[in-house]
Amino acid sequence: MNQWSCSVCHEILNDEEKPGICPVCNADDRMIINTKQLPQTVEQVRDMARKKLKGICAAYPFCDGNSDKICQREAYGKPIGLGGVGQGRSFKANVQSLAEVEFNMSVLGEHFEPDTSCSFLGMDLDFPVLASSTAGAQKYNDAIDETLFCTSVLRGAKEAGTIGLRGDTWFYTPDDNPCLKAMEACNGYGIPIFKPRSQDVLKSLIEKAQTIGCKAVGVDLDGCGSTIMAKHGHPVFKKSSKDIEELVKFAELPFIAKGIMIPREARICVDAGVAVIAVSNHGGRVLDSTPGVATMLPLIRKELGDSITITADGGVRTGYDVLKMLALGADAVLLGRDIIRASVGAGTLGVKLHLEHIRKTLKKAMFMTGAKNIKMADSSILFNNN
Ligand SMILES: Cc1cc2nc3c(=O)[nH]c(=O)nc-3n(C[C@H](O)[C@H](O)[C@H](O)COP(=O)(O)O)c2cc1C
Repeated sequence: MNQWSCSVCHEILNDEEKPGICPVCNADDRMIINTKQLPQTVEQVRDMARKKLKGICAAYPFCDGNSDKICQREAYGKPIGLGGVGQGRSFKANVQSLAEVEFNMSVLGEHFEPDTSCSFLGMDLDFPVLASSTAGAQKYNDAIDETLFCTSVLRGAKEAGTIGLRGDTWFYTPDDNPCLKAMEACNGYGIPIFKPRSQDVLKSLIEKAQTIGCKAVGVDLDGCGSTIMAKHGHPVFKKSSKDIEELVKFAELPFIAKGIMIPREARICVDAGVAVIAVSNHGGRVLDSTPGVATMLPLIRKELGDSITITADGGVRTGYDVLKMLALGADAVLLGRDIIRASVGAGTLGVKLHLEHIRKTLKKAMFMTGAKNIKMADSSILFNNN
């Protein structure tokens, strides 16, 4: 008799043949793994993802948007896959801007165990690293069902001691919405980020999220240029400060403005009442040739002061990168592509293993820079040549 594990809900199934469906969470056979092949490490998860994402993403150890990577190969008129838009300059700038930040290595003083715990929108988290809002994994080689993708991200983040955001894309409709279905399956423990659809559609989605019990809601304002949404009958729009204010007032939950890259627009969103500014260029997928997020983050923090919550994402691959973003002004840091690969590779377990690994390297980075807790992760731990 063989033993199988559902990689979404961890149910153990005994059967000679691979079961076609998990009787507990209804996950299909793509999510069922022989227990002897369950991954133990991030590398094993990456190997599993590489097989499933053949031709789309080679799950390289170093994901930087460089033109030698398969995601960036010129493909005129083809879908963007996991790459960056255009020549991938914004994607690369995210990685490069982080690489240019250096730590002051600190080795003297009392021995300590770094405390990574933090509070995010009133929630106590074990560490300030969240699964970013992403969508569309189902379209990559049909490797995973979209709702199970979302569910495994939300569950994996929760099991790691943090929380997941979920995205929105052209095949999500208000009535058939993988993100909201997954939120329901996870009793609302997650944060949906909707595309900047019409105000009425957004209000109906926000209402649904509230009914499910989600912890916050948001809009990726940088999704306004998505032509694929319009092509499939879901037009997206630029939002004015009045539009944002209207959504903030409508939502009974904290509101996240995602995709902000300039201080002036961050200020406008704060004045419109948002709870969180998510500094992001969408992983370099919406406009080529922006500065990296790590470049803009300190400028936005300077503009807003300390009273507003700021998240940052883009090119964050390790706990060292997380610590850099925190020191540059972020309260929490989001992972995009790495979490997609972890979920496609090994579902909930993959996401959990990945996030736990990030926490481990974050702890190491904190220890070696003398940051005893997250509050101490400020600009003083960064090397400044001036
Ligand atoms: C395949 C893919 C799909 C994405 N879908 C969404 C989405 O639906 N909503 C959203 O707010 N951001 C989306 N993003 C952007 C991520 O939330 C995040 O900003 C970005 O991936 C961070 O950069 P990183 O991938 O280098 O970590 C997507 C990114 C990728 C790579």
